Amino acid sequence: MEKTVKIMLSAFIMLLVHASLPSTISSADNPPDFFYVYLKWPGSQCATKEGCCLKKTPKPARDFIITGFQPYYFNGTWPENCDPASHLDVSKISHLRTRLEAHWPSLTCPGSNPEKLWSDAWKKYGTCSKPTLKNQQEYFRQALAVRKSANLLKILGDAGIRPDGSSYPRDTISDTIIGGGLSLPGLSCSTDKDGNMQLDQVILCTGSDAKTFTECPGNGFGCLGDVKFPHF
Ligand SMILES: *[C@@H]1O[C@H](CO)[C@@H](O)[C@H](O)[C@H]1NC(C)=O
Repeated sequence: MEKTVKIMLSAFIMLLVHASLPSTISSADNPPDFFYVYLKWPGSQCATKEGCCLKKTPKPARDFIITGFQPYYFNGTWPENCDPASHLDVSKISHLRTRLEAHWPSLTCPGSNPEKLWSDAWKKYGTCSKPTLKNQQEYFRQALAVRKSANLLKILGDAGIRPDGSSYPRDTISDTIIGGGLSLPGLSCSTDKDGNMQLDQVILCTGSDAKTFTECPGNGFGCLGDVKFPHF
């Protein structure tokens, strides 16, 4: 009896888990409507209780880094793992390696190989970015290009919002990003060792071209009050 209940319960939980997961959709039939671009301030990771582990050489750039480039649909679902047979072949992106190490590094401890990050990103989202981004080279090259063209650190710096350990009103950060020609951002915050709210990630969107910044549904969320912008 007890066993039956357990089995039924686990079946029910499985059902719940599956209901909340996006279905795996053939990307060839469904080109993404837009892309989320996740840009993280590395200094904030380092200021958390968990801290950061950085490679000494090459060091990550002192700039926002990429943590995700994700295809998405307007109906609120997203495709994942569109081609389980496709694995990242690092030899195919060797020409991008220096830039990926600077701008898409691993920060978490214990220090891990960034190749794991890149290959997970390729499997989960890169394989679903077709036909907009045709292959591994295009997926990573475009992620780097979008990060660069966002020019976030410069846009914020020009408005006096600098990673100098000061705090800035959340809405000032958001308005500055819009004023700089980017879309309405999502912001995410974390807490530093002393309990201060700090800027963790800026979430932007591009259109279906994976290039032009556009406003995406649901952005504008995240962080409250004054937000610290720590040194890196
Ligand atoms: C959302 O849109 C995609 C692409 O058009 C489609 O394949 C998918 O079935 C839709 N999902 C839902 C739940 O409507």
